[in-house]
Amino acid sequence: MTASGVDLSVDFCGVRFVNPFLLSSSPVSNSAEMVSRAFEAGWAGVAYKTVVTDRIPIIHPSPRMKSFDRGREQLVGLQNVEQTSDRGLKPNLLDMTWLKKRWPDRVVMASIMGFSDMGVPAMHAKNGGANGISAINTVRGLAGIDPDTWVPSLGVFGKGAISGISGPAVKPIGLRFIAELALEEQLGLPLSGIGGIETWVDALEYLLVGATTVQVTTGVIHYGYGIVADMIEGLSDYMAMRGIERVSELVGRALPQLHETDAFDLRRQGISAYDLARCVGCGACLTVCSDAGGQALSWDTSSRRPRLDEGKCLSCMVCSFVCPVPGLITFREMPEGWSRAPTPTLGVEV
Ligand SMILES: Cc1cc2nc3c(=O)[nH]c(=O)nc-3n(C[C@H](O)[C@H](O)[C@H](O)COP(=O)(O)O)c2cc1C
Ligand code: SF4
Ligand code: SF4
Repeated sequence: MTASGVDLSVDFCGVRFVNPFLLSSSPVSNSAEMVSRAFEAGWAGVAYKTVVTDRIPIIHPSPRMKSFDRGREQLVGLQNVEQTSDRGLKPNLLDMTWLKKRWPDRVVMASIMGFSDMGVPAMHAKNGGANGISAINTVRGLAGIDPDTWVPSLGVFGKGAISGISGPAVKPIGLRFIAELALEEQLGLPLSGIGGIETWVDALEYLLVGATTVQVTTGVIHYGYGIVADMIEGLSDYMAMRGIERVSELVGRALPQLHETDAFDLRRQGISAYDLARCVGCGACLTVCSDAGGQALSWDTSSRRPRLDEGKCLSCMVCSFVCPVPGLITFREMPEGWSRAPTPTLGVEV
């Protein structure tokens, strides 16, 4: 039981986890000493860093990681060229055995390889006797190119390489894979969601599309093992507030609302709605509406506020993405039969 009085434990592949939060296979799960500290912080289990036989000597490229930053925001994504564990098979197996003895209520999973394309491999994994599926691994990409040297990342002594991207940038892809696997009726295996999870809300989203547990690497690389405390507290409080007793009640609850786009009701239309009492007059909405929206805004110079021509609003909502005041611009449904004005043409009919 957590402080909020809810039970966060889950049954995954017939194994009990004290909560749904696990470390994924990567440098954050590289040794018993590290994993033990993670368990102390509250993580329920670990997919231990992928092990291989000693026949293949593993030497990691140097450097082996590159942050994908966006403006001042660091680690929006992470590119890595790390290989499987560079420790010997024996020390890794000894470490896993030690962890099992020291932490009997925590789960240690061995990772023997990763997948990049899940649909077919997932079925193969099931046919091969897998009890559950973890998805996703990293997604192939380039974090950037050095504008001075023209060397693509990671820049290992003058050489770049397309390789694995992880972190918040890949969360939409991870959510999609878990949702698709959860909807695959023939698969019917428990799922563990991975990709860009840093907060309890990220974790909740993975649960809602069908994951029973979630795994984290880049979030730990960014903030350390301690983030699990916030995840435990956040999810517990959310469940207590909504009267949800078990994590399993959340699993897959978004799936009935997930459709193909042709299921949308095109007769229902809306526009943006502005709460101008909160407007700070920055003009960001005007710029994007002119250059990327419906040219539905004009500028009231006396009040220094935007003015909306409702008939022109496309409901693209790009203005709301750039407005610095959260919740100022919202979506409003229009009455049945309302229609927007056609975009004016400059051409002359011949
Ligand atoms: C530096 C690094 C090394 C990784 N090594 C492995 C590995 O050995 N085996 C594996 O299955 N996944 C490996 N991964 C993938 C992670 O387990 C995880 O699937 C991926 O990073 C996406 O999750 P995240 O966005 O929380 O980082 C690695 C990821 C990173 C960043
Ligand atoms: S929703 Fe789109 S079209 Fe409507 S005001 Fe905002 S940017 Fe302009
Ligand atoms: S972006 Fe928001 S705050 Fe700025 S002018 Fe538009 S409505 Fe006002």
